[in-house]
Amino acid sequence: MSLDLNKIRKDFPLLSQDIYKKPLVYLDNGATTQKPQQVIDAELEMYNALNSNIHRGVHYLSNCSTDKFEEARKKIKDFIKASSDKEIVFTAGTTASVNTIAFSLGEYWIEPGDEIILSEMEHHSNIVPWQMLCERKGAKLKVIPVLDNGELDIDAYGKLLSDKTKIVSVTHVSNTLGTINPIAKITEMAHSKDAYVVIDGAQGIQHGQLNVKDIDCDFYVFSGHKIFAPTGIGVLYGKEEILNKIPPYQGGGDMIDTVTFEKTTYAELPFKFEAGTANYIGAVGLGAAIDYIVSVGIEDIAEQEKELLEYATKKLSSIDGLKIYGTSENKVSTISFLLDGIHHLDTGMILDKLGIAVRTGHHCTQPLTKRFGIDGTVRASFAFYNTKEEVDALYDGLLKVKELFG
Ligand code: ALA
Repeated sequence: MSLDLNKIRKDFPLLSQDIYKKPLVYLDNGATTQKPQQVIDAELEMYNALNSNIHRGVHYLSNCSTDKFEEARKKIKDFIKASSDKEIVFTAGTTASVNTIAFSLGEYWIEPGDEIILSEMEHHSNIVPWQMLCERKGAKLKVIPVLDNGELDIDAYGKLLSDKTKIVSVTHVSNTLGTINPIAKITEMAHSKDAYVVIDGAQGIQHGQLNVKDIDCDFYVFSGHKIFAPTGIGVLYGKEEILNKIPPYQGGGDMIDTVTFEKTTYAELPFKFEAGTANYIGAVGLGAAIDYIVSVGIEDIAEQEKELLEYATKKLSSIDGLKIYGTSENKVSTISFLLDGIHHLDTGMILDKLGIAVRTGHHCTQPLTKRFGIDGTVRASFAFYNTKEEVDALYDGLLKVKELFG
């Protein structure tokens, strides 16, 4: 393991606390990640010294805030290897980004009878906005099935694609199963039918190097809070050419060029999609989180998580009666499981009393849990700051759960 975890864990103040007089074992990183001091400091500096509304003032502080906001945009552009700052739109998070695309691309591109392809493993936030679009426009949803090992059935996807397919929107990584989907291949197949491709990167962005140009997807969206940044900030990456064609989602200040009661013209990219006062302090925090990740090393982060996944999978698999959902070779460090005869909520509540934080339930993927014939799982999702000792604590905790339930 090349990372110095003792040093890294000191960067995350929250991790060193006790819960119920037991050391916290935080294994709910799929829901949200913890924040390093560097991100907290960047936010504090904004509130303590630089805060002023962006793009609006001639004065010193407004210029400072604007510069910091636009610097953050550049950092994100470099991090995901986009072609231009104009392709990076700040939103409130993944959900806001998907809703924006579903509206704006939908208005421009969808006609009655058109088809939109999703997958059976989508988070509700990558289902419901498309359903709303289908209802509005008379379009239809088609769904790529999930195989028993938690991978997408790519052959079935090929058969769903047709000249009616206009949009394919799939997740990069399943939040419930951890499966990493072949998004470059999915994109290439969709493009052969001239369909646009949207990738939900909420669970993909924090686990490895991303290159949107190599993937060639038309849109890639993610949330800041899942990549060690504050809540309430997210990103909508879109190819410049497409963002230029589609209408804005929300109207308001900062997204206009000129306004008269007869007609409004819109600002250039990316501002056309950033109506109202943006969460510029959140954006600065996201920029600081990117700086932090780059300083640790995204490849080392991926390596550390891979090691943890292997260790945890082996250890948890050795527990009699424990079944793992999602057994693809291509996984991030997320393990969903059930203990035979024990409800996921009971398992989660007992683990909690031992200071171990996991998520339980359907993880906002009800069609997926239904596909596996269950109503939920226990999910342990690891970040690079988690340790093998914490995996051991989870293992011991699960033995205790089994003991309590006889
Ligand atoms: N979407 C987040 C999760 O999977 C909240 O936990």
